[in-house]
Amino acid sequence: MYKKLIGDLHDSRNRGTLSENDDTDSGMANLFNSAIGASAIAAVYELGLFGELQQNNSIRVKDFCEKNDLHHSSVSSLLHVLCCFEVIDINPEEDVIQKGAAFSNVYRDKGYFLWLVGGYGYLLQHLSSALRNKFRTGDFIRRNGERIASAARDYGSQFVDPHFIDMLKQEPYQFVADLGCGSAERLINLARNQPNIKGTGIDINSEAIKLAKQAVASANLQERITILHGDIKELTNQPELQRVEVIFSFFMAHDLWPRPKCLQTLRDLHYVFPRAERLLLCDTYRSDLAPSREMPIFTLGFELTHAVMGQYIPSVSEWIDLFTEAGWSCVEQRNVGIPFSCIFDLRNENQTNRK
Ligand SMILES: C[S@@+](CC[C@H](N)C(=O)[O-])C[C@H]1O[C@@H](n2cnc3c(N)ncnc32)[C@H](O)[C@@H]1O
Repeated sequence: MYKKLIGDLHDSRNRGTLSENDDTDSGMANLFNSAIGASAIAAVYELGLFGELQQNNSIRVKDFCEKNDLHHSSVSSLLHVLCCFEVIDINPEEDVIQKGAAFSNVYRDKGYFLWLVGGYGYLLQHLSSALRNKFRTGDFIRRNGERIASAARDYGSQFVDPHFIDMLKQEPYQFVADLGCGSAERLINLARNQPNIKGTGIDINSEAIKLAKQAVASANLQERITILHGDIKELTNQPELQRVEVIFSFFMAHDLWPRPKCLQTLRDLHYVFPRAERLLLCDTYRSDLAPSREMPIFTLGFELTHAVMGQYIPSVSEWIDLFTEAGWSCVEQRNVGIPFSCIFDLRNENQTNRK
């Protein structure tokens, strides 16, 4: 039924005044509709509908709305948007949806959409103000830390963690610390899989801390995972950090730049974590891509939002230079499944020299 309507629309436009502009016109429509599609994907993910559809072959929309106390006609309209992008197929007569041809790709990439729309939606909505120097004072950046942490958990678990686990198991360890731990999912998974592991997660954002504490409590791991609210740039030599052997940090380290501050912070880690021989640092680096329609997912959004926030994104060679100067030698650089992102395997040069 929907296919017929779209066919009718195209016919009527071609008979109208737009014929010589058809290509531009459909490009513009794509651009406009994609913005709506991105919001729809983020919303449906947060409502739990993607998860339910992943597990079941079909969902009756009315049942899903009743179970989650949702407004049925709004949900139907949202599903119509997803249908435009073949994320789902709709049988309107029976009020039933099924996975569409693009479902598995969208399910895989849903975290990027939540990151963009849920995490940075406010900044994007107020982009023109954020560019005016007179408004760029004080705490002018508003982003949603809880959603950014949830989104990072989703894409990190798929595209990064298999590499992380593989690198981690190369050496024995028991005490770990996660800098900028977000949801603490990485610590929780490690502790679940290895009963002797104890970990500390540190994050600056109170919404992320709330999410992390809740997750640790629901996994019943409070005895083995401690969550601390604090700024990595201001860490002091506290007793609970003394025994940490492996430090790791995911998608946070660029926040430590500009260079002098980041250099100082990486140097201070030797003092704050005196037993740490290894630092696994994973981050997205600057792409230096020329402007093009072929930009991969995430990169354009990541580079724009950070530029507007005044946050410098270093290139790989800038990172490597800094590590050497900070007393961490890089023994491996492994690319992960997020565009322009890798894990640097860093060793404490002092410990290495002592061996
Ligand atoms: C993109 S999220 C990644 C979260 C988590 N590492 C993950 O991969 O799922 C970055 C996290 O770093 C935290 N962060 C940024 N700057 C920080 C700082 N100076 N000290 C502590 N945490 C920081 C943010 O609050 C946020 O939770």
